[in-house]
Amino acid sequence: MSLTVCYPQLEHRQRQARLDGVLSQALAGREAQVLERPEDLDRARGKRVLFALALDEAGQNAAYSNMLARLRLEPGLLEGCTGGLLVDGPGELYTKSTAAELALAMNGAGCALVGRPLVEATGSLANFRIQAKNLGSDLLGAYGAAARELAEQVERFAFPSRERPRLLALHASSRHTSNTMDLWGEVQKRLSGRWQVEEIGLRNGTLSDCSGCPYTMCLHFGERGGCFYGGVMSEEVYPAVRRADALILMCPNYNDALSANLTAFINRLTALFRQTRFYDKAVFALVVSGYSGSDTVARQLISALNMNKSFYLPPRFALLETANAPGEALAAPGIGARLDRFAQGMEALFPQGEP
Ligand SMILES: Cc1cc2nc3c(=O)[nH]c(=O)nc-3n(C[C@H](O)[C@H](O)[C@H](O)COP(=O)(O)O)c2cc1C
Repeated sequence: MSLTVCYPQLEHRQRQARLDGVLSQALAGREAQVLERPEDLDRARGKRVLFALALDEAGQNAAYSNMLARLRLEPGLLEGCTGGLLVDGPGELYTKSTAAELALAMNGAGCALVGRPLVEATGSLANFRIQAKNLGSDLLGAYGAAARELAEQVERFAFPSRERPRLLALHASSRHTSNTMDLWGEVQKRLSGRWQVEEIGLRNGTLSDCSGCPYTMCLHFGERGGCFYGGVMSEEVYPAVRRADALILMCPNYNDALSANLTAFINRLTALFRQTRFYDKAVFALVVSGYSGSDTVARQLISALNMNKSFYLPPRFALLETANAPGEALAAPGIGARLDRFAQGMEALFPQGEP
């Protein structure tokens, strides 16, 4: 095994000194090739990829912008890759939003992302306070440890295969008029009979949002397989998530974000997350915007479910469509081919004959 490190260089290299140091620690004893220029990215195909990105005070990096352009414009550039990312900035802003933007572009170029694929370093490193306390180290020590762990995960992780994958479909839509549900119906038609599909509707009133209980209380209920609120989430959704090998979420764009019911679902997953990690479960999504902004919703899904909640992100995890009036999504030019490719991607995650 070896790592391929995509490392777009800042013009003033002394500004990336901290990331240089952490990266050399993370790569110590590993075989690694480092790609610094956008034109080098062709050599990443099929590899285990760690993207290392230092930002300047404005949250920018010119060489990265050129790499981002290639990732967005060349859909197969990272075909067959599995990846993670390190983003380091001099301030408290822009690291997370840049990471989500990069993660979406990597994924769209064919790269799977391991669960918790981001090591983020804000200027103060204050985001490492809890890890440093747990490790008994200083903030920089915790940053280095997280980077080493990520390098290991990216190099070694293999998503488990299943002969008869269990798929949990979650939606919060009205079946008669919904574009996302129309797409889901078409995806289902394209899936082979080996999938075991379970569907749960999270309509208004069935789900309360997380109330932000104190950590110990959340842990207490989580360890007993529930949550302070109980209800549909504890009784139906947690057991179904536990059983599932993959989730598929139907996501209409509501004000450039996930709808409240789906957001509540993700927030309420926190109690389950206290006792289980989701590295071996994949997440897919069908995103529909009336006018624009499906990439914003996809980024939100990556941040919440892959970066925070540890779900595995398969290559091209989301189908992004623009449609408003009922029926428009299925009438869009080329939709049949896009649905075919999306369903093929789902099948490819669980190759047949590999239990
Ligand atoms: C409350 C609400 C907010 C919306 N906000 C946006 C928006 O910010 N941008 C957009 O492009 N479409 C927006 N839409 C349109 C929906 O994304 C679009 O109609 C989509 O087809 C809904 O999916 P569905 O048919 O599965 O419910 C909004 C719709 C609703 C009901």
